[in-house]
Amino acid sequence: MLSAARIMQRCEALARHSELPGGLTRVFLSREYRAAAEEVLGWMRAAGMHAQLDAIGNVAGRYEGERPGAPCLMLGSHLDTVRDAGRYDGMLGVISAIECVAALAANGKRLPFAIEVIGFGDEEGVRFGTSMFGSRGVSGTLDAAVLDTRDAQGASIAEALRQFGLDGSRFAGVARQKGDVLAYAELHIEQGPVLEADGLAVGVVSAINGFSRLRATLRGEAGHAGTVPMHLRRDALAAAAECVLAIERIARSDPALVGTVGRIEAKPGAINVIPGEVQFTIDFRAPQDALRQQAVRAAIDAVQEVAGRRRLNATIERIQELGVTPCAPWLIEQLERAVAAQGMRVRRLPSGAGHDGQAIQAIADIAMLFVRCKGGVSHNPAEAITEADAGVGARTLLTFIERFEPRS
Ligand code: GLV
Ligand code: MN
Ligand code: MN
Repeated sequence: MLSAARIMQRCEALARHSELPGGLTRVFLSREYRAAAEEVLGWMRAAGMHAQLDAIGNVAGRYEGERPGAPCLMLGSHLDTVRDAGRYDGMLGVISAIECVAALAANGKRLPFAIEVIGFGDEEGVRFGTSMFGSRGVSGTLDAAVLDTRDAQGASIAEALRQFGLDGSRFAGVARQKGDVLAYAELHIEQGPVLEADGLAVGVVSAINGFSRLRATLRGEAGHAGTVPMHLRRDALAAAAECVLAIERIARSDPALVGTVGRIEAKPGAINVIPGEVQFTIDFRAPQDALRQQAVRAAIDAVQEVAGRRRLNATIERIQELGVTPCAPWLIEQLERAVAAQGMRVRRLPSGAGHDGQAIQAIADIAMLFVRCKGGVSHNPAEAITEADAGVGARTLLTFIERFEPRS
């Protein structure tokens, strides 16, 4: 029997593994990430799965089908969080998938295919700036150079993996082959207001918007806040303020486009010192790649223009880019039939947020089921879902699994 109450309790339990007192922050390869991973491994094993950490920190469980070693239906989501996060983004998908496997195992049911559930290690990319490290590893699209990416303390992914007791140089062994994975399906909270407005507990994703991540650095000159006249300053923070507003203007130029400066750091960072150097991030999303790429070019031009006019030096690094990822029509159809089987109206909607499926699509067709969240709020501690909706989501996923027909 599926237990929506247990799904909610487990979301609560994972939220306790946090570096933020009174809130939830759990970045990749942290002490808290290990504790969450251990707890999830225990749940997977209790659900009848073989489970282990893979070489790059993903939590991976496998429930064999009627024939051992058969290709799998892959399910999952992520176990890392943003800073001051909600407790469902990512975790709900992993926990719901385990709950489905537990229900199959309780009935002694084996399917013509295996089920693998993966708790991906680094979807958000908060610690190292580059996202979907775990799912890129599984899809074989990880470049060895990514292991040199450093966090704010200067530790590389390779070093962090070593500290965690893993050998990152074995990353290629984590990659799955195309024939191994029949399809990938992910349950996730919607993170937007559409399902709530429509009075629906779940919806089926049509496509995931593409994203571009960049980092801009402006270098001016630090100086005394009391002595340098305004016309002689090369203030990197005042310049960055202009850039942030220019980026907002670019993002507002098309209703389908969104753009965000989510992090900014001014150095040296003292009340009486003119900021000499500023670094900030840029994140653009859109349902068309060309629209997003045009926005990126416009933002780069805007930053260069501001820097030139204010006699600053600007460098802009492209951190990561993933294109629009359509969900596969044959999987959408099967997921929609599973929704209809719950007596629910079928609703298709795009995803504005990024998801691990964007990486996994390199080896398998993907599908996503969204669960309604309160007020469309996410990446925020106020993120909330109801137990009833968690139940509808898990039952829909279980129906989809039980009736899953691989593409012939
Ligand atoms: C992940 O939540 C993202 O969309 O950045
Ligand atoms: Mn997220
Ligand atoms: Mn997520």
